[in-house]
Amino acid sequence: MDEPEPPARPAGIAHEVGGGTVRLRPVTEPDLAMFRRFATEPGLIGPDWAGFRDPGAPARRYAEDGYLGERDGRLIVWIEPEEAAAGYVSYLGGSYGGRAPYWEIGIALLPEWRGRGIGWRAQALLCDYLFAHTPARRIQAGTHPENVAEQRSLEKAGFQLEGIIRAAEFRAGTWRDGWLYSRLRDDPSPL
Ligand SMILES: CC(C)(COP(=O)(O)OP(=O)(O)OC[C@H]1O[C@@H](n2cnc3c(N)ncnc32)[C@H](O)[C@@H]1OP(=O)(O)O)[C@@H](O)C(=O)NCCC(=O)NCCS
Repeated sequence: MDEPEPPARPAGIAHEVGGGTVRLRPVTEPDLAMFRRFATEPGLIGPDWAGFRDPGAPARRYAEDGYLGERDGRLIVWIEPEEAAAGYVSYLGGSYGGRAPYWEIGIALLPEWRGRGIGWRAQALLCDYLFAHTPARRIQAGTHPENVAEQRSLEKAGFQLEGIIRAAEFRAGTWRDGWLYSRLRDDPSPL
């Protein structure tokens, strides 16, 4: 009789490196304080700061669906053995021509966790997770011409630069271009 197949390793949940683990996990109630900080502390989020946001919104959203929506959501970037929430990743669904679905992802780490190799791993994990659990063929991410950390982080997470989106956002007093990156289902995962 054939041996039963071992259970598949969950994709995109955890990456172990040098005695530590970068893990993506669902949002819990204590994480809402971090979301409120990002909404109300000028500049904490980095160059994406776009003014104060409703600090009550995280609790309302958490009560609705735990930030695990079918069309958009967030997961916490959790670091072990420190047992610390380093920040969060997000996903938002879109489609080209109404027929070609894709995800757009984002990330924000707290300043003390940046530059330690967590950002690229978290974004690579999120891609593996979304490709494992949804049929999307394409994941995209936008960043700014001046955000070198995110550009390098996306490249290390398996993304390629596609081009410049002119006047993609209004931020810090003017319309600004965005740089669009993508990773396709067939592109290799760096993890
Ligand atoms: C952008 C961000 C997610 C990157 O994650 P990170 O953990 O800081 O970056 P990593 O440690 O994974 O670094 C990935 C690569 O970028 C490089 N890098 C990191 N920070 C850098 C910086 N400030 N300047 C230049 N390169 C940088 C690293 O050296 C590494 O490349 P290497 O392995 O060739 O040395 C994180 O800094 C962050 O949350 N910033 C604030 C929010 C933000 O900007 N989000 C993106 C909005 S578009």
